[in-house]
Amino acid sequence: MKIAMIGTGYVGLVTGACLAKIGHEIICVDQDREKIDALCGGAIPIFEPGLKDIVDEGVQDGKLSFSTDLTQAIELVDVIFIAVGTPQASDGRSDLTQIENAAKQIAKAANGDKVVVVKSTVPVGTCRRVGRILGKHDHQHTFQVTSNPEFLREGNAVSDFMRPDRIVFGTNSAQAEAIMCDIYAHFDGANVPVIKTSLETSELIKYSANAFLAAKVAFINEMANLCDATGANVDDLSLGIGLDSRIGAAFLKPGPGYGGSCFPKDTLALTILAQEADSPSRIIESVVDSNSNHIRRLGRKIADFCADCWKTDKKNSLIDKRIAVLGLAFKANTDDIRSAASTVIAPLLIKQGASVIGFDPEATIAAEAAIDHIETTTVINEALTGADAVVVLTEWDAIKLIDWAEKKTLLNAPVVIDLRNLYSPEMMAKLGIQYLSLGRPTVE
Ligand SMILES: NC(=O)c1ccc[n+]([C@@H]2O[C@H](COP(=O)([O-])OP(=O)(O)OC[C@H]3O[C@@H](n4cnc5c(N)ncnc54)[C@H](O)[C@@H]3O)[C@@H](O)[C@H]2O)c1
Repeated sequence: MKIAMIGTGYVGLVTGACLAKIGHEIICVDQDREKIDALCGGAIPIFEPGLKDIVDEGVQDGKLSFSTDLTQAIELVDVIFIAVGTPQASDGRSDLTQIENAAKQIAKAANGDKVVVVKSTVPVGTCRRVGRILGKHDHQHTFQVTSNPEFLREGNAVSDFMRPDRIVFGTNSAQAEAIMCDIYAHFDGANVPVIKTSLETSELIKYSANAFLAAKVAFINEMANLCDATGANVDDLSLGIGLDSRIGAAFLKPGPGYGGSCFPKDTLALTILAQEADSPSRIIESVVDSNSNHIRRLGRKIADFCADCWKTDKKNSLIDKRIAVLGLAFKANTDDIRSAASTVIAPLLIKQGASVIGFDPEATIAAEAAIDHIETTTVINEALTGADAVVVLTEWDAIKLIDWAEKKTLLNAPVVIDLRNLYSPEMMAKLGIQYLSLGRPTVE
């Protein structure tokens, strides 16, 4: 099937390349000329494992192409996916400007009836709104709007798309449903559940899934704090509850709070959606609060632990200290720093007088643009050399696998604050490293 993908970001590019891989002919369109020029020149504008191979393959097979010409792309296809951004607006709602603009552009360019598939994460009611915009700007043609939320995880996006847990789409048109079944027919023999539902349910499934996962993250972070306060151990606690099949082991590792381009904005948008529907979600409101308190609390914890280790006054402990922040991306295997812990923790440390050098294999350019006064490096030894303390924020393999016996010699002071629980407190104690992690014994 010939498909146009409007928006060639993390979701649009991965979805476009994967749809090409499963046999469709995809034109990925973006208004960002630099991005499209890069793609046409064989470069991949984001870091995503496995993506370059399938993009190259798609291009070589003549199944995948890139363009800034939306009108031409729409004229060539019957099915249009919208995968544009839905960032958080200043009032916490989802900013639907990109969606609305895309809908207007489709209506203007349409040369026949089209199926319009909304891949972006959007509040309930948006697909119907897209339908109204299309109808208002084009009286000649029929548009069947379908919701098809995306569940891929950055860092694992290609394999998530190629081996999905489920496929969800919502539509009120039998014809659009048949087209969606054709698009995803590749997965028919692979036992992938397909949930065909209403527009509203499909839109809400995406928000509910993100909110539930965010709640799990906030929950285990609160339990880790409680472990710290009571002397319990969060590793054993996670194991003890995660083995209950009704709970499940995933998302039960404490960390610096959820970040990234989805959970923060989607949980907040869901609380507003629920309030406006006169059905407030107190649980998700608490999750949002809990997550933002958690990261601020960690900022204070880092400064206090450093002061204890360095035996300095708590008030001005960070002035002129050099702190290595390991991991700037919001998680491993991505260059995405949207709402990453680094964007909260590094400015807090800098504000208190520290100089911060951030290490990340892929996210240094984005971090330098987003965090004032941060110095960055892709060489881990450069970050560690002369550091008065090390703060671990992302679970990259390069960070997970650090040999602390060797690296300790580079540090000015052996102080490691591990907000991903990557190392064992016993090992750090043996190495003489002062070590703070979450919900586990502190090594002082
Ligand atoms: N990033 C994720 O992990 C993820 C996962 C699931 C769902 N989502 C959702 O998918 C959507 C896209 O997210 P993303 O991370 O890919 O965003 P992104 O910002 O990386 O990409 C969006 C792209 O759309 C382009 N664009 C905007 N308006 C356009 C227009 N009118 N014509 C052509 N191009 C246009 C932008 O230039 C940009 O390149 C969001 O709704 C997001 O919530 C994201």
